[in-house]
Amino acid sequence: MLADRIEAKWIDAFAEAFEASAIRPDETVAILSETQSRQLNVHLAELALQRLGVRPFHVVVPTPRNPWGVIARSTGGTQSLGDIRPVVQALASSDVVVDVTLEGLMHAPETPEILKGGARILVISNEHPEALERMRPDPDLEARVKAAVKRVRAASEMTVTSAAGSDLTVAIKGAPTVGIWGSTTRPGTLAHWPGGIIVSFPSKGTVNGRLVLAPGDMNLTFKRYFEGEVALTIEDDYVVDVAGAGLDADLMRDYWAAWGDRDAYAVSHVGWGLNRNARYDALLMYDRRDTNGTELRAVAGNFLFSTGANEFAGRYTAGHFDLPMMHTTIALDGDTVVEDGKLKD
Ligand SMILES: [Fe+2]
Repeated sequence: MLADRIEAKWIDAFAEAFEASAIRPDETVAILSETQSRQLNVHLAELALQRLGVRPFHVVVPTPRNPWGVIARSTGGTQSLGDIRPVVQALASSDVVVDVTLEGLMHAPETPEILKGGARILVISNEHPEALERMRPDPDLEARVKAAVKRVRAASEMTVTSAAGSDLTVAIKGAPTVGIWGSTTRPGTLAHWPGGIIVSFPSKGTVNGRLVLAPGDMNLTFKRYFEGEVALTIEDDYVVDVAGAGLDADLMRDYWAAWGDRDAYAVSHVGWGLNRNARYDALLMYDRRDTNGTELRAVAGNFLFSTGANEFAGRYTAGHFDLPMMHTTIALDGDTVVEDGKLKD
């Protein structure tokens, strides 16, 4: 078990992450948290910023009621701001927002306004600091993520195949693509830590084929490894069939149906992991309360397939699955970038 205690080494790790985002003493830095946030990380953020000579301030909002009845996980869109105007304005007019909310600001409705104000946002994923410590931002990762983004932006087609039977095609041309390497120095941008992921949001009607989730792949909404096979048939972005016997398939069918929202079945984002410090076995090593699973999204060579909201295709829903797949081959216009789960860079 990990104890929720301040350790000097974790202040070091947080300070390194803030230095990677070039946070300076003359900048105004807001630490955004909610009442259910991991207090250890809130505290570590404050101490590390002060170690760097920064005088941060806290913005704390009560964690709101669950509006859905369904248990929402891994949405990446915190509901905690609730468009409280003075809060949004305070964040937008800060130089840096260190975001320690449970789900993060990645897809929060207020985020575009905060970025437009010129703030840069560093989301610290809701992980135990013992995990963050192992995945401090590094320049090599940044370079590799940037190179991958370039390749995807230049491509017209992404294909994903596997021995288990996956055969998916994404007409990727024009799809917004972002790379996350764990830090940000540019005003008006957002990064999350840990990083090491490339994510594209396919345009409407561009994803077709079949994905076979096999034992060892992961469902990060449930924070569990697949133990059985689940085959998804995808037509014009939407999962139209979920085949498979056993618990994994049953849980997925049940969770999807619970949202009562067709858009929960549609593709949110596609991409892959590039972080060689991210450990595939991490889901076994942490209690569920100690991990938000961002480490698994970043495991080098996974295909990160995700269903749910995709604002670029006009779809909004809080039903979200992040499904890192371990043994796929990913190609861009026929050029292999990941071969049977191994990065080819
Ligand atoms: Fe996602």
